Amino acid sequence: MENNEEAKKYLSEVDSWLEDVSYFLIDLNIHSEDKIHELINNTKNVIRQNSDEKPLDVSEIIAIQQTVQDIDHFVQRRIGENERQKATVPIGKHVLPKLPYSYDALQPYISEEIMRLHHDKHHQSYVDGLNKAEKMMKEAREKNNFDLIKHWEREAAFHGSGHYLHTIFWEIMNPKGGGQPHGELLRQIQKDFGSFDHFKRHFSEAAKKVEGVGWSILVWSPRSRHLEILQAERHQFLTQWDTIPLLVLDVWEHAYYLQYKNDRNKYVDNWWNIVYWPNVENRFYKAREMQWDAF
Ligand SMILES: [Fe+2]
Repeated sequence: MENNEEAKKYLSEVDSWLEDVSYFLIDLNIHSEDKIHELINNTKNVIRQNSDEKPLDVSEIIAIQQTVQDIDHFVQRRIGENERQKATVPIGKHVLPKLPYSYDALQPYISEEIMRLHHDKHHQSYVDGLNKAEKMMKEAREKNNFDLIKHWEREAAFHGSGHYLHTIFWEIMNPKGGGQPHGELLRQIQKDFGSFDHFKRHFSEAAKKVEGVGWSILVWSPRSRHLEILQAERHQFLTQWDTIPLLVLDVWEHAYYLQYKNDRNKYVDNWWNIVYWPNVENRFYKAREMQWDAF
């Protein structure tokens, strides 16, 4: 800084910038206990020591410049994280999620060969089909030509349900799975189904008796505020709208035929060994936060 006036101007700008950053960080949910606020306050204190009688020296001002850069980097990084958390999927840009474990991790209950085909081929085709349907519906809106809309709506429902249900399905299974859920999900299951065994029998029977291909699905209803078990034929039929799937079991033949042939019942019975309850509990807690007026 060439003279004290210029230094004073710079320091006052930094001071008000730091003030803005403090509020901005609180908006980002970074609260006063976070170390970054300590750094901001300390820097402000140093700046406010600057006076005509005792101006800050060059090395102190350079140190402040360095700190300003550090704070700026911190804020940029946190904005990036925040944006990623709020990320939305642009039209036609769905992607196949990675499996949260290796292809052979669910053996002996589900073979590696099934997992490779099921995830890499079948799930991928739902992702592709959903992307195509979304793009075609966008095109229909742009061209104001809805002649084929019924077809693309069907495609969006079929592939969309296929994509979303499989995404849940991979997550609610795990080699560390099996047993029973804990805590409030277990208590809710006992309340709504009588006992965990009653629930398990009901869910298994629903899976075994899906007509043709489909799913058995445990859902939470934010309106009636209880759990329900539903079947889905294919992916999208028999859906009870306005509910949130918690636990899903794929009983399409591609999910078991290579290993179990036509013995769907054995596949369903074995599947309970890999149900990953911590994930289901987490889905339940998040779903339960949503509450509609009860009708
Ligand atoms: Fe499937």
